[in-house]
Amino acid sequence: MTFPIVEKETLNEGTVLLRVKAPRIAAHAQAGQFVVLRIREKGERIPLTLADWDEETITLVFQPVGKTTQDLAKMLPGGSIRDVLGPLGNPAEISKVGTVVLVGGGLGIAPLFPQARAFKEAGNRVVCVIGVRTKGLLFWEDRFKGYAELVVCTEDGSHGMKGLVTDGLKRVMRERKVDRVVAIGPPVMMKFVSLATREAMIPTVVSINSIMVDGIGMCGGCRVPLTTKEIRFSCADGPEFDGHIVDWDALLVRNRMYEDEEKACRCT
Ligand SMILES: Cc1cc2nc3c(=O)[nH]c(=O)nc-3n(C[C@H](O)[C@H](O)[C@H](O)COP(=O)(O)OP(=O)(O)OC[C@H]3O[C@@H](n4cnc5c(N)ncnc54)[C@H](O)[C@@H]3O)c2cc1C
Ligand code: FES
Repeated sequence: MTFPIVEKETLNEGTVLLRVKAPRIAAHAQAGQFVVLRIREKGERIPLTLADWDEETITLVFQPVGKTTQDLAKMLPGGSIRDVLGPLGNPAEISKVGTVVLVGGGLGIAPLFPQARAFKEAGNRVVCVIGVRTKGLLFWEDRFKGYAELVVCTEDGSHGMKGLVTDGLKRVMRERKVDRVVAIGPPVMMKFVSLATREAMIPTVVSINSIMVDGIGMCGGCRVPLTTKEIRFSCADGPEFDGHIVDWDALLVRNRMYEDEEKACRCT
């Protein structure tokens, strides 16, 4: 069984959207979950988050950063992906809590969308703080309409508020009572979101994209160190964790563990 690509869109210079026919995965998909795919039989398996789905298809949004994602970015509608395994990971915990602020940096904007929809449908007031370096990197601003109030941040001030998503979040926290924060994006961004909400004691959920190999809890690759000295696994216990107990410094070191091997791979 292969997975046909039915749509491809370039969202900006470095971000590609693929809509892939996968009705069995789509039927069980929930916000916060991901798939592991392999383009060809001898290819590497890579995890990608479900950015959206309908009855027949799943939507993946990714950046071509290395061999597999670059190969994937070259694929066109009419082509097929060899394997797509999923949905994997625990779904996001969606309930009625009041005001939920979803914070997404860069590519993190895409996986934020199903969470915005789910929190809204659960009866929450949803605010999305999304941030990019500059206006040209922004995507899906329209897609959030009807589900969330948007606070757009650009580092160079070319659109919305000038600053980082943490500046946008702090502004929202000053203006209203926030009952939960969800952050998706680069680990450094999630670390600073968690620091900002810790003092205000706002429950904060982060989505950890550790290096994954099997994606089903068997290989130990996706360890998430906690400040409680416990170890969790992103694929089996996450990918969502309490941002206030993630050991961010240890996680950042761990995420850089294979840097040399990845650089070597890119040269071949
Ligand atoms: C649960 C989860 C969800 C993800 N969702 C998305 C998404 O929606 N969109 C997206 O663009 N990226 C996502 N990623 C990251 C994506 O999996 C990597 O960009 C991809 O594996 C890179 O593979 P490569 O061969 O192209 O690049 P490589 O050259 O192999 O790696 C480039 C960088 O990607 C990361 N990476 C490499 N291999 C893995 C791996 N097996 N698991 C996790 N990270 C890896 C590393 O930080 C590395 O420095 C997700 C990762 C996880 C764990
Ligand atoms: S990817 Fe192997 S344990 Fe999580």
